Amino acid sequence: MSHLPLEPIEKASIDELRGLQLKRLQATLRHAYKNSPVYRAKFDAAGVHPDDCRSLADLGKFPFTTKHDLRDSYPFGMFAVPREQCARIHASSGTTGKPTVVGYTLKDIDTWATVVARSIRAGGAKPGDMVHVSYGYGLFTGGLGAHYGAEKLGLTVVPFGGGQTERQVQLMQDFKPSIIMVTPSYMLAIADEFERLGLDPRESSLRIGIFGAEPWTNDMRVAIEQRMGIYAVDIYGLSEVIGPGVASECVETKDGPTIWEDHFYPEIINPETGEPVADGEMGELVFTSLTKEALPIIRYRTRDLTRLLPGTARTMRRMEKITGRSDDMMIVRGVNVFPTQIEELILKRPELSAHYQCVLSREGPMDNLTVVVETRPGLSPESIEARAAAKMLQHEVKVFVGSSVAVTLKPEGGVERSQGKAKRVVDLRPR
Ligand code: DLL
Repeated sequence: MSHLPLEPIEKASIDELRGLQLKRLQATLRHAYKNSPVYRAKFDAAGVHPDDCRSLADLGKFPFTTKHDLRDSYPFGMFAVPREQCARIHASSGTTGKPTVVGYTLKDIDTWATVVARSIRAGGAKPGDMVHVSYGYGLFTGGLGAHYGAEKLGLTVVPFGGGQTERQVQLMQDFKPSIIMVTPSYMLAIADEFERLGLDPRESSLRIGIFGAEPWTNDMRVAIEQRMGIYAVDIYGLSEVIGPGVASECVETKDGPTIWEDHFYPEIINPETGEPVADGEMGELVFTSLTKEALPIIRYRTRDLTRLLPGTARTMRRMEKITGRSDDMMIVRGVNVFPTQIEELILKRPELSAHYQCVLSREGPMDNLTVVVETRPGLSPESIEARAAAKMLQHEVKVFVGSSVAVTLKPEGGVERSQGKAKRVVDLRPR
């Protein structure tokens, strides 16, 4: 079978990789210090200079970068090239305050396309594949990021973007793409639409789904794979670091995204103390870009929680599939709860569907969590079967997560459908 060849660096030895990383790290620190006043001030305040970086471990001496740094220097203050040298700007909306703005030189765009192309190939793409992109186009990095990567790999791209779900399904029936790139939650809405139109999603032309931009569990992977009859792989990224394609799963192992370490250097830190922890230990994921020009990013705190794992399908390290991020963590009567923990338990109940939200409310001093979830199509929320499933779910959340929650069942369509990133936590508590 014809295949798409790997880049040489994907097959390099660890020593070769570490050597390249150190060289690139030193150049990035020098570039940031020399050309971005914000980084220069941060390094000076911390009493460090790029010359202090003689080994990869020395990176730990340098200060972190956070979303606040980017917001404080809104819009272009952290850029290390004049704005005129940026070929593109993206921004992430953010729920409160100013958006986070990122910039790319033409070379950055090419680097980004390279890592996304690598991600799509790792997901199992073959020459001649057609890629249907349902990530949103525009300021969000999902659509254009996926698009340039698929083109760079030599595939045919259908730049659909989010929304107009019925048309998406019709075009897929007509064009017969083999790969879809979309958030896992919107994939579910597309699968529903196939069924609503009387089509069996397993009969579609799709072979591979490249899903990311939001946390999703391995149980959700199995549910999507079975429902769609495809391989589902996980693509990770964030706009501050480049966009999608910072890490991506290899289809032959499906054991967590491989980090494209020649471009993005990962660390895991203890989120409370900021101290780096060893590979294999859980903590907050931190990234340093190794090749970016317009917006070098030094020790960016992602707020995503995971751990680093040794390479399997590639020499580069993997990250465990992200199931928690600090932003989504709910504290319910002293117990930390992540939506993905609830998702796992919902997916174990055949009476329930994968459409759910966690609603936080307050009653006096107490925070309450209500899990709002749809019953499977055709099953009434009032049925004995559905009510028993709700009771079981409530019980299992208590046992496995440690928190008392209420469960509200909705009929099919009762939970808002995502057309991009799903809103899993609805916070109704008074501010
Ligand atoms: O979501 C970039 C992206 C687009 C990634 C398309 C993958 C596919 P942002 O909008 O800046 O960028 O959001 C980044 O989304 O810090 C994570 O919390 C979350 N996230 C992204 N990918 C995954 C994933 C894009 N595969 C934030 N699993 C990140 C879990 C993810 N969470």
